[in-house]
Amino acid sequence: MSCRSFDPAALKREFPGLADSGLHYLDNAATAQMPETVLQALYRFEIEARANVHEGAHRRARAATVALTEARSQVARFLNAHGPDEVVFTYGTTSSLNLLARTFGASLDPGDEILLSVLEHHSNLVPWQRLASARGLVLRFLPMTPDGRIDMGRLTSELTPRCRLVAMTHCSNVTGAITDVAPLVAAARVVGAKVLLDGAQRAPHGPLDMRALGVDFYAFSGHKTYGPTGIGVLWGRRELLEALPPFLTGGQMIEEVTLTSATFRPPPRRFEAGTPPIAGAIGLGTALGWMQSLDWRAIRKHEVHLTRRLLDGLASIKGARVLGPMDTEDRRGVVTFCVDAIAPTDVCRHLDGHGVALRGGHHCAQPLVRAFGVEGAARASLGPYSLDGDVDALLNGLEELVQGRRGPKARDGKGVPR
Ligand code: ALA
Repeated sequence: MSCRSFDPAALKREFPGLADSGLHYLDNAATAQMPETVLQALYRFEIEARANVHEGAHRRARAATVALTEARSQVARFLNAHGPDEVVFTYGTTSSLNLLARTFGASLDPGDEILLSVLEHHSNLVPWQRLASARGLVLRFLPMTPDGRIDMGRLTSELTPRCRLVAMTHCSNVTGAITDVAPLVAAARVVGAKVLLDGAQRAPHGPLDMRALGVDFYAFSGHKTYGPTGIGVLWGRRELLEALPPFLTGGQMIEEVTLTSATFRPPPRRFEAGTPPIAGAIGLGTALGWMQSLDWRAIRKHEVHLTRRLLDGLASIKGARVLGPMDTEDRRGVVTFCVDAIAPTDVCRHLDGHGVALRGGHHCAQPLVRAFGVEGAARASLGPYSLDGDVDALLNGLEELVQGRRGPKARDGKGVPR
């Protein structure tokens, strides 16, 4: 597919929520903004095609069903899946991961193992903890390297013949580190384990290729991929989805129901009980189509430039420490940092006063944040529409906060912090 030439300032103008807002929006890892084309698609659906899907015997219901079907196909194209039947619409990454824990998890036996990492978001940790305690499973963990990457050096010792599932983040929501997937897949195949990636933080950075990745399951969210909230995807290899039992039941996920029994449709509808998030799926499909029209090579170059600017700027602020790699290789523009003696909430509040939107706390990754020896941190996360001025506003506001806290006595004659 040919792509548009990339100009971040022009791209930003496609986002009504950002253009002329005066906001330095650096909370994209939590929720990205939606471009005009997605807002228009949502509006058109609500005005022209709002109806329920599948069995509707009128034109609006047919239009809604066609739009939902097209959205599924678009997701499949974004993922380079084998087909749309490998795409399950969920309510977000968390719901995708819970779905898998409850369905794939039903086949696991006491003593079976699941390999995770210390870098997991709670959504790819707590469902497995609950499953492990219900079924007598063993959770193993790859540790973290000092610079915040998954320590692959422990793969061979932690991935044992009892391992049934390797479930890892594709990109850390705290350190920004990108996981090296190939060794995970290769090692999992040796012992016959399946591989699941939590792609919530990778999917916003451009189209994916499930066939090349070689994994078995993949989860991501719409609201981080420039689409609506309340929609997400679980992708699974067709034959694996076919082997899974239903998760939630009711609505149109059935084939036939009697008063005492039910049979279920094939995937993906087996996993879509009740009315699906129709508008969300249509918005997501539009967002992923929009993403596919962009020049991700140029966006990556811009992201590396901004990440470097941010890392260098933080390194020059006394007392600031980055939780994650200081290089831009194999890491995304997700930069989490602490400042000596200043609570992350104070950092975020102060910067909010400068129009800089950050996120502060444990980032739903408490074990990981604690592995860095802190209880919380502030986080800046870039989007393709982020500009030098956004990074500079953060750095200037932070320098002002740090100097103000240190007080006049702590400065030398030229006002430079010692
Ligand atoms: N899980 C989201 C994040 O990392 C909210 O920010």
